[in-house]
Amino acid sequence: MADFVGALDQGTTSTRFMIFDHGGNEVARHQLEHEQILPRAGWVEHNPTEIWERTRAVIESTLNKAHLTHADLAAFGITNQRETTVVWNRRTGRPYYNAIVWQDTRTDRIASALERDGKGDVIRRRAGLPPATYFSGGKIQWILDNVDGTREDAEDGEAVFGNIDTWVLWNLTGGVNGGVHVTDPTNASRTMLMDLETLDWDDELLSFFGVPRSMLPRILPSSAPEPYGMTRPGGPVGGEVPLTGILGDQQAATVGQVCFAPGEAKNTYGTGNFLLLNTGEELVRSKAGMLTTVCYRFGDQAPVYALEGSIAVTGSAVQWLRDQLGVISGAAQSESLARQVDDNGGMYFVPAFSGLFAPYWRSDARGAIVGLSRFNTNAHLARATLESICYQSRDVVEAMRADSGVALDVLKVDGGVTANELCMQLQADILGVPVSRPVVAETTALGAAYAAGLATGFWGTTDELRQNWNEDRRWEPSWTEEQRRDGYAGWKKAVERTYGWVD
Ligand code: G3P
Repeated sequence: MADFVGALDQGTTSTRFMIFDHGGNEVARHQLEHEQILPRAGWVEHNPTEIWERTRAVIESTLNKAHLTHADLAAFGITNQRETTVVWNRRTGRPYYNAIVWQDTRTDRIASALERDGKGDVIRRRAGLPPATYFSGGKIQWILDNVDGTREDAEDGEAVFGNIDTWVLWNLTGGVNGGVHVTDPTNASRTMLMDLETLDWDDELLSFFGVPRSMLPRILPSSAPEPYGMTRPGGPVGGEVPLTGILGDQQAATVGQVCFAPGEAKNTYGTGNFLLLNTGEELVRSKAGMLTTVCYRFGDQAPVYALEGSIAVTGSAVQWLRDQLGVISGAAQSESLARQVDDNGGMYFVPAFSGLFAPYWRSDARGAIVGLSRFNTNAHLARATLESICYQSRDVVEAMRADSGVALDVLKVDGGVTANELCMQLQADILGVPVSRPVVAETTALGAAYAAGLATGFWGTTDELRQNWNEDRRWEPSWTEEQRRDGYAGWKKAVERTYGWVD
């Protein structure tokens, strides 16, 4: 009898495998980081082969730690960093180029040309996205245009594209020996190539990027009663387990936070920040800089959509303090250092390292630290970094309110940065609404497990999943209205200083 579900979470900085029981409790996990390859300013790559090796290793270690085998797993779900683009040869299994990561800005000219040529509105209407470096379409085009032989091989059906979900699933199901080439609508909705209404690749959008349809995966439901495939006996799982769930990581966190009703929202604090608001079966078109995206599609049910506020740099700003500036030695120290001061001392830090995403969508923006006086110290910088995480979420909440008319009465949070108590208090202060963290903070992996387990009947209904959600901690706002207003006015001024640094 299989009592557990396994979920692979392949994220921007690390890969983890987790096993959950029927109550949604974590049974075991293992996690490994992979290299961030930064060949030039604005370029961010991962080695797909390393990612697959890490995937193998974390699955094997987690099963060993838990003394479990494939026979104990009722289903296997995958969740992943979205948009990151891999093109590989289906005959040799070799990638043509490193994975181009979602944060990479090398396609800024492709994005601005789309806007200039009047294609931007078509992409907005059909794919729900503004043309931007963030999404996969331009990244595929870049590989086809710049890596010798790729375009010919793509036209011959040998070179295939996948986001990381597709790459990992292809390998888990046998790779060159019959690997399955599929994705789900949440991932496909981040490519600029899928029509949000038909949930199929769109020929006109494909033509904008010169992407042959033959290189694209089949789009199947996020929770698939008919499995995408089985894990291969010779692979890391060691036997056959049905692969029945795929969700992009932010949609997975939305499912893990049981945001199944329209109006329910979550905010995940990872490398970047992603706030998703479930809008039900209604496709809400944003006027305020939000993305319209697929939230999930379970089996043959109608798709559920979301509005999303994507912020490129939040947790990675803390990493930058550690790795590039050496101001702190570990993420936890950002909290103790920031606690040495009572406020930001007039300093604002806008970490626009990849331009600004929602709600601004300014690829010409770059980071800025402003308001400095000689009085300022590293402690102010740490505090301004934590505040920047919270102010960026405030920008998104404001835009979300403008689009949907939904004013949040509580913000459900998850992700690594939620361990930072000061940051969560600042979030409540800056937003003026309470912030609530669940007991199981690993909502991303949990969401993928839910999608996989719902498909096989391991869990019966989404109502059953709601019973598994419990609050761990809540932060109430403590700032005065005046503090909140003045602080936000300073932030808005700082944001304007980041514009116009690249053409
Ligand atoms: O859209 C990018 C997002 O999916 C990355 O998430 O958690 O890997 O930073 P994360």
